Amino acid sequence: SKNLGVNEKNHLTIGGVDAVELAEQYGTPLYVMDEDLIRENCRLYRDSVQEFYGGHGRVLYASKAFCCKAICKVVSEEGLGVDVVSAGELHTALSAGVPAEHICFHGNNKPADEIEFGILSGVGRFVVDNPDELALLDSLAGKAGRRVKILLRITPGTDAHTHDFIKTGQIDSKFGMAIENGLAMEFTKAAYRMKNLDVCGIHCHIGSQIFELEPFTYTARVMLSFMADVRRECGETMSELNLGGGFGIKYVEGDQPVAYHRYLEQVAKEIDAVCAELDFPRPFIYLEPGRSIVGSAGVTLYTVGSVKEIPGIRTYVSVDGGMTDNPRYALYQAKYEVLVANRAGDDADWRVTVAGRCCESGDLIGENLPIQQVNSGDYLAVLATGAYNYSMSSNYNRVQKPAVVFLKGGKSRVAVRRESLDDILKNDLI
Ligand code: LLP
Repeated sequence: SKNLGVNEKNHLTIGGVDAVELAEQYGTPLYVMDEDLIRENCRLYRDSVQEFYGGHGRVLYASKAFCCKAICKVVSEEGLGVDVVSAGELHTALSAGVPAEHICFHGNNKPADEIEFGILSGVGRFVVDNPDELALLDSLAGKAGRRVKILLRITPGTDAHTHDFIKTGQIDSKFGMAIENGLAMEFTKAAYRMKNLDVCGIHCHIGSQIFELEPFTYTARVMLSFMADVRRECGETMSELNLGGGFGIKYVEGDQPVAYHRYLEQVAKEIDAVCAELDFPRPFIYLEPGRSIVGSAGVTLYTVGSVKEIPGIRTYVSVDGGMTDNPRYALYQAKYEVLVANRAGDDADWRVTVAGRCCESGDLIGENLPIQQVNSGDYLAVLATGAYNYSMSSNYNRVQKPAVVFLKGGKSRVAVRRESLDDILKNDLI
């Protein structure tokens, strides 16, 4: 990532700040987030929407990628809305001062009490997943005496080339209603019959960590064609299209995501072309990037405990965190670049397996990783951990969650405190 460097002490720098000093000041494991880079990413998105959609669009930050009050405040200050999928994310966004009308409430199975919370807080849009939820939302809106604006979650059937576990655009999906088998149209007709709901448009999300343009342009075409079908069959013209997130980032050498500026440009062109073909008015466009806003802006710092060589097999480098703060290798065999933060400029001529501290063999950060010479007591930096690390962290083995530090203009501050041992006990009763 372009915000990383090596200083005269041979230490890694993040946004100009010495990573070793951060580790010593705040302790490890430590999530470091470069707020300047996050803001820059937000602005790139915002400017692209301005440029290619003439301002007729909005970027919503998918807070599942990394959710805490500080990030919600930052993205909101940069003019982004926030996508939430639970009362917890909604409460976080509202507590950070995100205007409710800029919040979009997702999820394939929102509990009734969370729907009520969303209605009463006045969230801007609900994305409704299925007919049962449609009926539930309508009745809860009626009970609350409110009209609720909705988007319908549609499964376009796009096969985005990505990891199977995070592929959500297929016909066999727990998310949304598929166009192909006619369920989406039935769902849409039902939505227009609801008394307390205003159908604004449709939503889709085709997967995550996608490098190609075609799945996005193809999906835009499928979704607009569906909107034209709805106009023909229901006599209703939908005015909003939410294309979800999924823009990939670079984790390791060889990853080649398209610059998202280019995604947005190509998708906008496709939208114009299809709208012209179908004589359909250009809808208001929402985009929901998560990973591409925060992923590259994050670095996790660890202290190395043991370095154990098993001759002829491998060297285990154990760190003071692991799957509890980054479960992505255990879940997806996700690849990361690692380096020794206090020897960052040296050649990476060692090969090691980085292991966590949990009682589980699968608790690894990566295997066969090129790295500088590493000893007990060194600081290890794992790069591009800003997305889906903190947000998927756990207290397995009752390990405390690390602190999150934000960097801005060369200064650091705590955005999330490190959990204490008492935090671990706070809900326990005997
Ligand atoms: N919108 C919806 C409806 C989503 O389901 C997602 C991600 C996003 C937006 C944001 O996608 P992004 O721009 O971040 O790719 N835990 C997995 C990723 C799961 C993504 C789920 N949905 C991982 O660690 O790779």
